[in-house]
Amino acid sequence: MWGGRFAEGPAAVMREINASLPFDKRMWRQDIRGSKAHVAMLGAQGIVAPDDVAAIDAGLDRVAANYDADGVPDDLSLEDIHMLTEARLAEAIGPAAGRLHTARSRNDQVATDFRLWVRDAIDQTLEALAALDDALLARAEEHAASVMPGFTHLQSAQPVTLGHHLMAYHEMIARDGRRFRDARARMNECPLGSAALAGTGFPIDRHATAAALGFDRPTRNSLDAVSDRDFAIEYLTAAAQCSLHLSRLAEEFVLWASQPFGFVTLSDQWSTGSSIMPQKRNPDAAELVRGHAGRITGCLVSLMVTMKGLPLAYSKDMQDDKPPVFECHDLLGLSLAAMTGMVESATFRTERMRGLAESGYATATDLADWLVREGGLPFREAHHVTGRAVARAEALGVKLDALSPEELAAIDPRIGAEARAVLSVDASVASRTSFGGTAPDNVRAAVRAAREAR
Ligand code: ARG
Repeated sequence: MWGGRFAEGPAAVMREINASLPFDKRMWRQDIRGSKAHVAMLGAQGIVAPDDVAAIDAGLDRVAANYDADGVPDDLSLEDIHMLTEARLAEAIGPAAGRLHTARSRNDQVATDFRLWVRDAIDQTLEALAALDDALLARAEEHAASVMPGFTHLQSAQPVTLGHHLMAYHEMIARDGRRFRDARARMNECPLGSAALAGTGFPIDRHATAAALGFDRPTRNSLDAVSDRDFAIEYLTAAAQCSLHLSRLAEEFVLWASQPFGFVTLSDQWSTGSSIMPQKRNPDAAELVRGHAGRITGCLVSLMVTMKGLPLAYSKDMQDDKPPVFECHDLLGLSLAAMTGMVESATFRTERMRGLAESGYATATDLADWLVREGGLPFREAHHVTGRAVARAEALGVKLDALSPEELAAIDPRIGAEARAVLSVDASVASRTSFGGTAPDNVRAAVRAAREAR
């Protein structure tokens, strides 16, 4: 298509390094869509005659139908999806096909196709995020009052509710959704009509093509438009951030499914066996979600480094923008679907969680708080007194709430018999009613609010 000034064809390796068709064929739908909008505008502006417009439009439909039926071939001599589609169009309708590329370059064409593709990817991701969020909200509601140990430094800290713990992931997923929406809104400008880099002398209507393709407006600067890949980087940034959240939840599942924790049994559907150890139930899916976060972050770094230092306007380096975005989308889609399945089908072993919450002196803070509230002690002193109670319980090998009133009084006479009431894990979580706290009623209210906010 660009061979006019060359006497020889490209070397085989030149062809291979130059070609993007093996990966950019994934954008064939967006490419057809962009071309149809472009030719309709060329017709409306009187730049291409109506019968040629009709032939091109119908021809593009035929090319699309063929792609749909037979797939897109890897014809490296045609370099990329844009050239292949034009070649196919020429086979279908003859020389009129050559009018499609009027007032357009592959530079604005690929920028447009890729924005359309990333926009579709974001829409799919938002649906997948909503499915995961539905699962988290349902399980959080179910376990609003299930007590588990809360950790800091992975040491038993204070009792929390499993519902509250799951709602922490809802918060992350909700932020991810807002990040993707935000990126989508910012990227929704149409580069088409920026041509190679300088715009065009043809009387095109960029507002019409932008509207036809569902963009909010055309981009404002042709040089920026053909060389901007911020939209892809923002998508990858949101995806990488999301993958980090998924990897944290995945890690919790890996820990929780281990025998020492025993907090969760993953369903058979989301576990794998060992070929040598018959007793094993491995959390492979969770481990892979954890692992995918590394690859997804790699995709982001890959495109950032590709774009670093590129002068205006288009450079061929930018062709390497697509593989990391496609890879990221596939990995994130799998991770979200797997995490949703695991959350939906996991069996939470609430008795085990409760037992461990009760065993780690996790309500010591509640006793200290009681001494402040009822005994009027300064918190520091209450902390010290409670520390002695913990040491005593430890020496006797009993839970804090198993210390007798006499034992407690012997530690400090200000610990009244009523103090024992605050030592149960249920009383502890029920008392944490501060906004954002772990109390079961808070969790239920948070679930309701999250559903309403959708
Ligand atoms: N295959 C190219 C890409 O993906 C299309 C743009 C080619 N433009 C050019 N001036 N060679 O970036």
